[in-house]
Amino acid sequence: MIVLGIETSCDETAAAVVDDARRILSNVVLSQTEDHRPFGGVVPEVAARAHLENTDAVIAKAMSDAGIDFADLDCIAATAGPGLIGGILVGAMSGKAIALATGKPFVAVNHLEGHALTVRLIDDVQFPYLLLLVSGGHCQLLIVEDVGKYTRLGTTIDDAAGEAFDKTAKLLGLGYPGGPLIEKVAEGGDPQKFDFPRPMAHRPGCDFSFSGLKTSVRRAVETLDRPLEVAAPDLAASFQQAVADTLVARTKNAIKMARDAHPDITTLVVAGGVAANTAIGRALDALCAKTDMQLVKPAPALCTDNAAMIAWAGLEHFRRGQSDPLDFKARPRWPLDPDAPAAAFAGVKA
Ligand code: KG4
Ligand code: ZN
Repeated sequence: MIVLGIETSCDETAAAVVDDARRILSNVVLSQTEDHRPFGGVVPEVAARAHLENTDAVIAKAMSDAGIDFADLDCIAATAGPGLIGGILVGAMSGKAIALATGKPFVAVNHLEGHALTVRLIDDVQFPYLLLLVSGGHCQLLIVEDVGKYTRLGTTIDDAAGEAFDKTAKLLGLGYPGGPLIEKVAEGGDPQKFDFPRPMAHRPGCDFSFSGLKTSVRRAVETLDRPLEVAAPDLAASFQQAVADTLVARTKNAIKMARDAHPDITTLVVAGGVAANTAIGRALDALCAKTDMQLVKPAPALCTDNAAMIAWAGLEHFRRGQSDPLDFKARPRWPLDPDAPAAAFAGVKA
C-alpha cells in the first residue's frame, strides 16, 4: 500500500510518500520560517499565500523523489484540520483534486493524529500508549487507544509549550522561532538563577498553563539590574528549566492516570517541535527511568510538522477500510477526543 500525504496546517508546506512496510519513500518539507521571521510568529494570511504558491511543486517533488506516478498510489491523505484554515484549505483541496483526477480514495487526516501515530511508522509500538504532544500550537497529554480513538488526559488552558518558548524568546530579543534559540542561549546560563513558577505543578490532573510563567519572565526582564544581553543566558536557562519541570510534573500525573485505565501501559511517546529540546528530553528520560516507562522520541524531522506523519495516519485509516468523501469540510478545530472534559481551572490564573 502506497500513500501520498499532504500537510499545510501551519507554516510548513509538506508532501511525502510512505508505504505499509514503514518505508518513507519521500519526505519534502518547505519551511516558511523566513516569511514569518519579521513578524516574530506565524501570520495566517502570509502562511496561506505561501502554501498556495508552493503546494503543487512540493507535491511534485515528493512524487518524483519517491520515483512513482499518481497511478501507483492507493490513496491520497491530506491534513483537514485542526490549524490555520487558509493553509488547510489549500492542502486539502490539492489532495481532493488529485483524488478526483486519479479516481483514488481520499483520506482527511487530523493533524494531531499524524503526530500521535508517527511512532508506529518508525517502530513497532502497540496500542495503548501515552502521548505528550508539545508543539507551537498544542500541549496535550493523551492515551492513544487505537487508530481514531484517543482519551485526552490534559491540555493547556492558555499557551502551548512551544508558544511559550516563542514568546519568551521575543521578550529576550532572541528572534524566531524561539525554541532552538532559547536552547542555544541557555547553554551558557544558570537554570537556578531566576526562580520562575512551575505553573499547575502541584494541582491534580494534568492540564497545563504557561501564561503565568511568561509574565514572570517579562517582570524579570523589566526589573533587571544588568543589561538584557548579559542576563539572557540565565533567563533562558531558568525559563527552560521551569518548562521542563512543569512538563515532567504533569506527565508524572498522566502516567498515574493512564495506568489507572490501562495497568499494563509501558510506553510514553513525546512528539511535536518542543520534543527536540535536549534539556526537556533529559528530564523526561529521568522521569521514565523512575516510573518504569519506556520513552520513545521520533527523530526531530518526524517530531516537527511533516507530511510523512500525515501519509502514515492516512494509511492506518485506509488499511482499516476508512476513507472520506470529497466534500469533507476542512476544520480549524478538530479535537482528537471530542468527549474530553474542559480543561480544569480554565479561566483561573495559575
Ligand atoms: O511541531 P512544530 O514544528 O509545529 C507546530 O507547532 O505544530 O513545533 C514548533 C514549535 C515552535 O514553537 C518552536 O519554538 C518549538 O516547537 N521548538 C522548540 C525547539 N525546537 C522547536 N522548543 C524548545 N526547544 C527546541 N529545541
Ligand atoms: Zn504539528
